[in-house]
Amino acid sequence: MSSRRRFLADSARIVAVGAAAAGTIGCEMEPKKPPLFEATLDVSALTSVGATLVSSTAGFDGAPILVVRDAPRQFHALSMQCTHEGCPVQAPVAGVISCPCHGSQYDLEGRVRRGPAQLPLARYETEYHRWSKRLTVRVDA
Ligand code: FES
Repeated sequence: MSSRRRFLADSARIVAVGAAAAGTIGCEMEPKKPPLFEATLDVSALTSVGATLVSSTAGFDGAPILVVRDAPRQFHALSMQCTHEGCPVQAPVAGVISCPCHGSQYDLEGRVRRGPAQLPLARYETEYHRWSKRLTVRVDA
């Protein structure tokens, strides 16, 4: 048995023993899968609704992440990879996100305003931590 298979078999045994000890065998609980991607960004600079930030952190697809403040405690985050052929889009200007490659344009929600792109910018799941003024962005499994 390879060391990886042994690790997985041992892990499964440990989980089964732990579940039995906790009396949870037979329950429909599934362990939460780890996200495919997760990053926590400082959004303290976004002090007003409508403000935007381009993170230097590469996202799930390798493109920067655009964060938009929607409300005092609400944000959304978009991939800055154009959905036409994958060029990096530019930071928004007057609410318009432009792609320098073939001219596609998106609004701050990531919706296509002008083609040739057909699909909206990819959107991340977000969770705002108001006390630390940080935003966790992730792609769930
Ligand atoms: S890659 Fe963005 S418009 Fe073509």
